[in-house]
Amino acid sequence: MSARETYLLDRCKLEDSHTLAVYRANGGYKALEKVLKGGMGWAEVIEEVKASGLRGRGGAGFPTGLKWSFMPDPAKDPRTRYMAVNADESEPGTCKDRVLLREDPHGLVEGCLIAAYAMRLDAVYIYVRGEYRKPYDRVQAAIDEARAAGLVGANVMGTDFSCEIHMHKGAGAYICGEETGLMESLEGKRGHPRPKPPFPAGFGLWGQPTTVNNVESIFNVPFILDRGAQWFRSLGTEASPGNFLCGISGHVAKPGVYEVALGTPARQILDELAGGVWKGRQLKAWFPGGSSTGLLPASLIDTPMDHDSIKGIGSMFGTGAMIMLDETACTVRASQVLARFYDHESCGQCSQCREGTQWLHQIFRRIEEGRGTMADIDNLERLARGMAPGKTICALADAAAIPTLAALKHFRHELVEHVERGCCPFKKGGASAAPAAAEVHA
Ligand SMILES: Cc1cc2nc3c(=O)[nH]c(=O)nc-3n(C[C@H](O)[C@H](O)[C@H](O)COP(=O)(O)O)c2cc1C
Ligand code: SF4
Repeated sequence: MSARETYLLDRCKLEDSHTLAVYRANGGYKALEKVLKGGMGWAEVIEEVKASGLRGRGGAGFPTGLKWSFMPDPAKDPRTRYMAVNADESEPGTCKDRVLLREDPHGLVEGCLIAAYAMRLDAVYIYVRGEYRKPYDRVQAAIDEARAAGLVGANVMGTDFSCEIHMHKGAGAYICGEETGLMESLEGKRGHPRPKPPFPAGFGLWGQPTTVNNVESIFNVPFILDRGAQWFRSLGTEASPGNFLCGISGHVAKPGVYEVALGTPARQILDELAGGVWKGRQLKAWFPGGSSTGLLPASLIDTPMDHDSIKGIGSMFGTGAMIMLDETACTVRASQVLARFYDHESCGQCSQCREGTQWLHQIFRRIEEGRGTMADIDNLERLARGMAPGKTICALADAAAIPTLAALKHFRHELVEHVERGCCPFKKGGASAAPAAAEVHA
């Protein structure tokens, strides 16, 4: 890959990158100082984030500055104000926030403080996936260090700005990553998403104005304030500026989390960073941004990784987590595994999702095991269209239905082959010439 500017992962490579000393020695808390002591008003901070064009990295790609501006004016609405940082990271394939939490936690703390100043928050909650024990401990230690240094709590840096940051551990439910499910969970209730409207800015945590942002979104903020919106816009594309963390997994030689500019072709990320498809095999299919974005055929691998380009091929940028399947993989099996996940994770409030995810799982399993019929294939489509888009309280139903429709669009022939042969052609001993399929089924 040609020379490219990086910033998100630069500090992560340093020894003891998680400590305040290393963070400060490498420009840490400079942006906060500029904001608090350089006379920047809260509105100016929001304008700078808006001008940068930063889009949320949690999945929907919503403009961060615009979201911040939805918070009501405290002069007219004196309620307590919160931000919840979404560190639940449970979307299959997504593993980028973990790196930031573990290796550069002060970057998140500084981002939270700047966001708190801009939105005039009273407190920030960081909701961390329960399995992320080390990342959780590192962020807690960073908050403690920052508090001891006068950066968190009352009168930050000796100014009249005060902000508390609290941590919360999730308990293993994917649905608690959905912003309103997350807030319910933070309030100590079941993670059942709330119908919207009202939106979190009007009625969020404990009914108070709240903004929910992803870890990587907030992590970008100090860089934008330090280097300026125009610098940020010099990276990425016009509609999707900046770099993003691309977690790439599946059948690749070097899976991992890489930093790339938005708009970089997916093939370039696969070949030049992830070492190409493993074992010298061919690419068969790929997910562009986590499991919810659906399987795409290899023929689309030259698509640039940015929101508009991926939308243009009928999918979503999502979390930018690319999952690669080689030529030996069975797309029906992959669909079945994911359908099982969504069936398990549905909270059950909406009938389309509760029943639909269960049926999708059952039908994919039947077809994969060679017991399916042609009517099953039609029923998959009927079911998925009844579930999405936007027919339920939250987007989990969409996340299950959209990959089903994508599988039907691009890989219907494989479903038909399963039904016609009465077995999975990719299983060891199956009729297909596909090599070493046992690895996929292990
Ligand atoms: C089922 C479901 C799970 C989600 N899980 C996450 C998650 O783990 N992390 C995350 O940041 N966003 C997740 N989201 C998206 C959040 O609802 C929300 O859009 C995001 O946290 C907003 O942050 P951003 O604007 O900074 O991207 C999920 C959404 C759905 C529907
Ligand atoms: S769509 Fe599914 S996960 Fe979301 S609220 Fe409805 S039942 Fe629960």
